[in-house]
Amino acid sequence: MTIRLAGILVGIGITAVLVLWSMVPGVINLVSGPPVEKPAYYAFKEKPHAPEGGFSFAGPVGKWDYAQLQRGYSVYKQVCSACHGLKFVAFRNLEELGYSEEQVRAEAATWNVPGIDPNTGEAVMRPALPTDYFPNPYPNNVAAAAANNNAIPPDLSLMTKARKDGSNYVYSLMSGYVDPDPEKLAAAQEKGFETPTGLYFNPWFANVNLAMPPQLYEGSITYDDGTDATVDQMAQDVAAFLTWTAEPSMIKRKQTGWAVILFLLFATGLAYMSYKQIWAGMKSKKK
Ligand code: HEC
Repeated sequence: MTIRLAGILVGIGITAVLVLWSMVPGVINLVSGPPVEKPAYYAFKEKPHAPEGGFSFAGPVGKWDYAQLQRGYSVYKQVCSACHGLKFVAFRNLEELGYSEEQVRAEAATWNVPGIDPNTGEAVMRPALPTDYFPNPYPNNVAAAAANNNAIPPDLSLMTKARKDGSNYVYSLMSGYVDPDPEKLAAAQEKGFETPTGLYFNPWFANVNLAMPPQLYEGSITYDDGTDATVDQMAQDVAAFLTWTAEPSMIKRKQTGWAVILFLLFATGLAYMSYKQIWAGMKSKKK
């Protein structure tokens, strides 16, 4: 008994020493060291926000807005695809946006993908088939960086998953090219902040200076369905489209969740009733 108690006490003692050892120097540093200074760009940072009215797919009972996804696809095609690929999305996946098989075949054929000449084996470009995946606009990363001030435009297939609050992030980023607040700018410049030539100020980007120039301008594209192509509209639509590319089964997942909850409730009810049934004949011993 005493040995067991002693063992426990020694164990607790060792743990306490280890915990203190790992924490105390940090605490001393925090209290007595120089104050932690945030980089100057922190003054500008903004949190992603949802578009007015929110996204149709947000929340537990969200639904895709197929017209919006189709508009987002046309923003991607006409603007973003010049620099960004979608390597995890195949043309045939577009059927999920409400296009028919024929439409998808015709749509795929408007894109060129790398192929080989069947006679000579030489590398050529050929019209895409529904089974092809969206091509990368650059042959390799060196070419991509050379064309974009040394920054490589990332593949966008999973972008809304790769960033915190991704759908709102893409929306905020694409509609978020603004001039820096002059007061904040003056203060930040004193600490050495600048937006180097070739980079663009955007308070939603990680360090507020990014190599992607503003992409969306009022009327940059014309929507087939006649929707007004404002910057805000295009940013929402492309953010919705990229949410779909990152998680095409999102709505199904949410609906399955509800079905599972209903089933579990039903099963709980059944279990309770069978419990009542099984014990119905038993009398309590207590009088
Ligand atoms: C002219 C080329 C070009 C076009 C067109 C373009 N981008 Fe970019 N994009 C870039 C570059 C370059 C980067 C990398 C920026 C950096 O890391 O500084 C980038 C980065 C991004 C990022 C990642 C930001 C992050 O958090 O890392 C997103 C999201 C993005 N672009 C979305 C889009 C969308 C949506 C469109 C179409 C509306 C688009 N881009 C059109 C060049 C482009």
